[in-house]
Amino acid sequence: MSAFQADSQQLILALSKGRIFEDTLPLLEAAGITVTENPDTSRKLILPTNDPNVRVLIVRATDVPTYVQHGAADFGVAGKDVLLEHGGEGLYQPIDLNIAACRMSVAVRNGFDYETAVRQGARLRVATKFVETARTHFAKKGVHVDLIKLYGSMELAPLVGLSDAIVDVVSTGNTLRANDLKEVEAIMDISSRLIVNQAALKLKRERLQPIIEAFERASKK
Ligand code: ADP
Ligand code: PRP
Ligand code: MG
Repeated sequence: MSAFQADSQQLILALSKGRIFEDTLPLLEAAGITVTENPDTSRKLILPTNDPNVRVLIVRATDVPTYVQHGAADFGVAGKDVLLEHGGEGLYQPIDLNIAACRMSVAVRNGFDYETAVRQGARLRVATKFVETARTHFAKKGVHVDLIKLYGSMELAPLVGLSDAIVDVVSTGNTLRANDLKEVEAIMDISSRLIVNQAALKLKRERLQPIIEAFERASKK
């Protein structure tokens, strides 16, 4: 564990900016914790709270499990999509917070006959940020795929001939519709989870447990 958090009273929470930060704020409030700076206006990456022993790290959504796994943060909030790609090593996942709800889906261009391509055993080029999830999904179906790793704007790939299909998260479907794409297969429902460093759970249980319980009560509402 780093010197940064050697004090067992100190709790470090890793969050990503945007929907996860916004949706975690009410859960923190339920635990009596108020973040006193706004990550959209502050350039600080370590945000204070009303509790001098609790600080919030602002990291990329895909980096949240890494910070928690290595104990640089005691706990964090991450999407199931991100956790599946990370693998979950060193992480205790006590609760589904039911925030940032969406689904992981396969999408193709309107006009592309996905079902026929699959039935005929075509080799599909699939662009995605979620290569492990995509690999597992198509392996289960027995579909041969060439996976193309992207870091964002997946919807563009089929439009410019980079891929036949994408695997991405879908919520309203507006992004697919705006880009002449259609959802052809839902892979799984996604929501965000509280994750806790396994060592911190043992060493800081007294401080963490009430927060976990407050999150659990607030997330069920
Ligand atoms: P990123 O910068 O990695 O795209 P986001 O804040 O957009 O970070 O996504 C964080 C998490 O929120 C994702 O891991 C996913 O679980 C969920 N998510 C992503 N897009 C949506 C969406 N359109 N609606 C609801 N939840 C979403
Ligand atoms: C996410 C995701 C899709 C979109 C789906 O993008 O990557 O593009 O939401 O949501 P919809 O079905 O409601 O349109 P996000 O808004 O997170 O943008 P970014 O990750 O590219 O910044
Ligand atoms: Mg996003």
